[in-house]
Amino acid sequence: MAEGPNQSIDHQPSAVRQAHRPELGRGAVSHQPFSDPARAPLIVCKDLSKIYRLGDVEVPALRGVNLEIQRGEFVAVMGPSGSGKSTLMNILGCLDTPTTGSYWLDGREVGREGQDELAEIRNRRIGFVFQNFNLIPRTSALENAQLPLFYRGMPLRNQRAGAAAALARVGLSGREDHYPTQLSGGQQQRVAIARALVSSPSILLADEPTGNLDTESSRGIMEVLQRLNQEDGLTIILVTHETDIAAYASREILMTDGQIVRDRWRVSAHSARASGGVVKP
Ligand SMILES: Nc1ncnc2c1ncn2[C@@H]1O[C@H](COP(=O)(O)OP(=O)(O)OP(=O)(O)O)[C@@H](O)[C@H]1O
Ligand SMILES: [Mg+2]
Repeated sequence: MAEGPNQSIDHQPSAVRQAHRPELGRGAVSHQPFSDPARAPLIVCKDLSKIYRLGDVEVPALRGVNLEIQRGEFVAVMGPSGSGKSTLMNILGCLDTPTTGSYWLDGREVGREGQDELAEIRNRRIGFVFQNFNLIPRTSALENAQLPLFYRGMPLRNQRAGAAAALARVGLSGREDHYPTQLSGGQQQRVAIARALVSSPSILLADEPTGNLDTESSRGIMEVLQRLNQEDGLTIILVTHETDIAAYASREILMTDGQIVRDRWRVSAHSARASGGVVKP
């Protein structure tokens, strides 16, 4: 199906949805355990709520979030400050657990896992990128990127080879020995992306990755993410406040007050150019 730039559709093409879960109706979210994990959506959230407690005060951060994300999607999460975007990302990334509701990752109910299993899922399956880069100072780009492999106990030579390949993937070959202070903001964020990629995650979660960058650097970061999505099939979920940044994604979720109030697939100017105007799931 061909669409022009910047057109949007309010639901995923039914053929795409049907191909993944033929038994699902339009807009439905499945909540059955999956007998065949390979055919399950990558992410299924069913009625998630998150209530923070501050003394006697309860702060509802998520209020009944239902969401399915298939492998290979590039999703932008938007919404006003305080609408629950980071809270949702933290749950998707197994950094936090919901108060109620359930979350399946790759057909496995994450809420039923213990802390050790959650850490294992986090380390093996999920890459994180944050607004502040979170690089270790006085440590080279290569060493920053190899850190997840170091924690995994991989032999040093393999750590270095993996980190160098990840740096090359984000366009930083030749900068391996630079310290964070010797890199631009955009380059530091590329190192952070390389570090997130080095353990070959299934999902990259990026919470306002361009929030501290100028327009040109932001564009560079988004082009890297788009390439990782389109060429490597990496599933990306990105939080942003900027419509220009969200336009790189093929699906846009709008959160308000702890709920998803809009969920639409679209062909942005960026993805239309890259895909010849074809709607991609
Ligand atoms: N650790 C916490 N303890 C108590 N309340 C929290 C905590 N973290 C978040 N909240 C509250 O939960 C709600 C959602 O916060 P969240 O950080 O998810 O919003 P956000 O959409 O990411 O906002 P922003 O765009 O400003 O980053 C807010 O009302 C916030 O004050
Ligand atoms: Mg946030």
